[in-house]
Amino acid sequence: MNDELTLIAERITGARRLTILTGAGISAASGVPTFRGEGGLWRQYRPEDLATPDAFGRDPRLVWEWYAWRRETIAGCQPNAAHDVIARWSAGVRPGSDPGTGRLKVGVITQNVDDLHLRAGTRNLVRIHGSIWELSCWDGCPAGTTPWRDERVPLADLPPRCPHCGGLARPAVVWFGEALRDEHLRAALDATACDVFLTVGTSAIVYPAAGLVHEARRQGAFTAEINLEETPASTAVDVAIHGGAEVILPRLADLL
Ligand code: APR
Repeated sequence: MNDELTLIAERITGARRLTILTGAGISAASGVPTFRGEGGLWRQYRPEDLATPDAFGRDPRLVWEWYAWRRETIAGCQPNAAHDVIARWSAGVRPGSDPGTGRLKVGVITQNVDDLHLRAGTRNLVRIHGSIWELSCWDGCPAGTTPWRDERVPLADLPPRCPHCGGLARPAVVWFGEALRDEHLRAALDATACDVFLTVGTSAIVYPAAGLVHEARRQGAFTAEINLEETPASTAVDVAIHGGAEVILPRLADLL
């Protein structure tokens, strides 16, 4: 593994642009359950059973109970060493890679809605699946289409209401079957034009996020995966490292 880490470090050192895609695994060490790992099931439901417009339309209270449980869990969690390394890199803390500017341009795309990257101070962050701390109007009233922040834990009454029209509020996250926001998709695709693309802690099965590493590779990026387990991306990347992101990323940072 040391050789592989050294190789990634060398590639980052020579890079001008580094893009990092993260998934639920990066927050696992913070205590946030992953979706498909152990503890990912809530009651008997899989995320695909609850995180859909159909499920919400059928039973908004049930879906909100799941989100209320996740909000409570996340509220007690702190960013871990992996979030901290990425936040430092995103602030251009590792100078010297680009003789022109002396800075490495780092972009972070996360599928996580927990906001732990934000809390770690990450810059240049695209939250392609939104935030669990933001709500929008389910009924689509004009004012309520712009998400608003609601960090109450616990939420007073379920389901919460839209403050503008009194209709149902929904979590402002991207559900299965819904499109990413245009500007998020554009930013994520732009970020695939990079020298090094790291995919960290994602099962690499939910698209379009799962396609980004392939797109980066197609454009010539050096690609690497950090994950506890094999994923569908493992055989496609240049280097796959098996281990916890909270252990591997600090080791990688030490090599830079
Ligand atoms: N370090 C690195 N990887 C880890 C760690 C860890 N400490 N712990 C778990 N993992 C890996 C698992 O091996 C798994 O491959 O993280 C991955 C988590 O996978 P998922 O639970 O499927 O999460 P994610 O890939 O983010 O899911 C994508 O699916 O449910 C939707 O919208 C939701 O954003 C989510 C999307």
